[in-house]
Amino acid sequence: MTRTGAALVGVAVAAAIGAELWTRASSSVPREDLPANVAARVNPRLHDPAAVAEGAAVFESNCVSCHGEHADGRGVAAAGLAPPPAKFRDSDVLAQHSDSYLFYRITEGKPGTAMPSFRGALAENERWAVIAYLRTLAPDAAVRR
Ligand code: HEC
Repeated sequence: MTRTGAALVGVAVAAAIGAELWTRASSSVPREDLPANVAARVNPRLHDPAAVAEGAAVFESNCVSCHGEHADGRGVAAAGLAPPPAKFRDSDVLAQHSDSYLFYRITEGKPGTAMPSFRGALAENERWAVIAYLRTLAPDAAVRR
């Protein structure tokens, strides 16, 4: 390998390590602090093809009013909310969070915001399905599942 070739490989490796560190740093933001039993949970519907379609329907009936038809945070009920509803499209919300965090928020709601708890309104498998759907909206292929 030429010297330039070796240098380029070095840059690529450094970039890959940098990306890995960034990913780790951004997934350890304080709001990701979860009870241990929740943090350990894995989306059981991740590879379930029916989950995305079911999750889209759950989103349509339960989330669109605030998070918007296009998951861009512009629902009809979003006006005046502070903070505004999370944008799942064209934002880094999905990149920053694990499925277990999303599940926790959908289950418990988000204190200090208008995000309600869906513990009673949606079965656990519906909450996991809506997460499977949200993952399909992530702008970055690495965050999509
Ligand atoms: C009444 C309006 C409203 C409804 C309905 C609603 N949300 Fe939210 N949601 C919010 C607001 C406001 C936030 C807070 C955004 C923030 O923290 O910046 C939020 C936050 C979230 C978060 C956490 C984002 C983060 O960065 O912490 C998730 C996940 C979420 N919503 C998913 C859903 C899903 C899935 C549904 C439907 C099952 C839903 N929401 C229904 C208003 C709503």
